[in-house]
Amino acid sequence: MKKLVPYIASPVKTAEKIVELAKVTPNDVLIDLGSGDGRIVVLTSKLSGCKGIGVEIDSALVAISRKKASEYGVSNRVEFIEGDFTEVDLSVATVIYLYIYYDVIRDYLVRKLEKEVKDGTRIVTLEIPIPNWMPIARRGFQDENGVVRTLYLYVKGVSDPSSWNNDELNEEWMEAFRKRLRGIAN
Ligand SMILES: C[S@@+](CC[C@H](N)C(=O)[O-])C[C@H]1O[C@@H](n2cnc3c(N)ncnc32)[C@H](O)[C@@H]1O
Repeated sequence: MKKLVPYIASPVKTAEKIVELAKVTPNDVLIDLGSGDGRIVVLTSKLSGCKGIGVEIDSALVAISRKKASEYGVSNRVEFIEGDFTEVDLSVATVIYLYIYYDVIRDYLVRKLEKEVKDGTRIVTLEIPIPNWMPIARRGFQDENGVVRTLYLYVKGVSDPSSWNNDELNEEWMEAFRKRLRGIAN
């Protein structure tokens, strides 16, 4: 088990922006890979009613996250796993949140996302795009300190090159693809 990224918290406001951008509902299961103090899992669950799973390698941060879940009254629908995010099963997720380094996404997660994640799952990243994937939306917002931050939204089965078949890349396919993107973005 290896700590691949240091702890840097997302701005608190990020949670409401994720809920808006990915249209998170009580039917969703949101996983934060490297969940820090649990703020994203707890607040998105509080705001949307979704189930949440945080995966965090640092036991002190896991303890803080569980306490926070209890304070916010969401302990019944969120859980925090003390473990390595490269080893958890991502197939239960319908929304995944990532605030981790570009090279960690590239070296440890892209293949995992392509292999395990169900089609239709939304993946939201803060600041860092997923290498070679096509975001379907990008949203800027001002954090608590007035700094502009950027969220990217991807949809598995649409954004990932592994779902594209080069033989089909004609005008008809592109029109169907644009329609699908419009359907997701509306
Ligand atoms: C940049 S912070 C993001 C925290 C949180 N997602 C947020 O947005 O507020 C990355 C987190 O990943 C955790 N981490 C680093 N390597 C990990 C690994 N291999 N497995 C699980 N967590 C890890 C760190 O301890 C840190 O809390």
